[in-house]
Amino acid sequence: MNKKLLVTGSSGLIGSEVCVHFAQELGWQIRGVDNNQRAVFFGPQGDTRWNQQRLQQSLPGFIHHELDIRDRAGVLDLIKEIRPDAIAQASADG
Ligand SMILES: NC(=O)c1ccc[n+]([C@@H]2O[C@H](COP(=O)([O-])OP(=O)(O)OC[C@H]3O[C@@H](n4cnc5c(N)ncnc54)[C@H](O)[C@@H]3O)[C@@H](O)[C@H]2O)c1
Repeated sequence: MNKKLLVTGSSGLIGSEVCVHFAQELGWQIRGVDNNQRAVFFGPQGDTRWNQQRLQQSLPGFIHHELDIRDRAGVLDLIKEIRPDAIAQASADG
């Protein structure tokens, strides 16, 4: 069975490339967490939805979770549900 990776900040510059690398080069299943907080910080020009959509369209099995990583209970519930083999933290709020 493929290993599972949970990536926070998955729609950002670093997080999205982590998603692509682990999916395409290593064959892992990817779960992404991002709430487009970048658009809150930087306005419409900081919006990362396009990158979320790119991952959803190009990585088979990629699942996006709309979650604020500061929501501790929500993050813990998600980890319990997914039981990832590894977590890559690439959002700015870690
Ligand atoms: N880009 C670089 O060259 C570089 C180099 C060294 C370290 N870093 C660090 O790596 C991290 C990611 O950098 P980046 O350039 O990919 O940033 P980015 O702004 O492109 O991506 C961050 C992503 O995290 C998401 N995010 C932010 N707060 C969130 C929250 N509370 N809940 C859920 N999602 C949230 C944003 O919406 C965005 O999609 C940062 O901590 C940065 O300081 C980046």
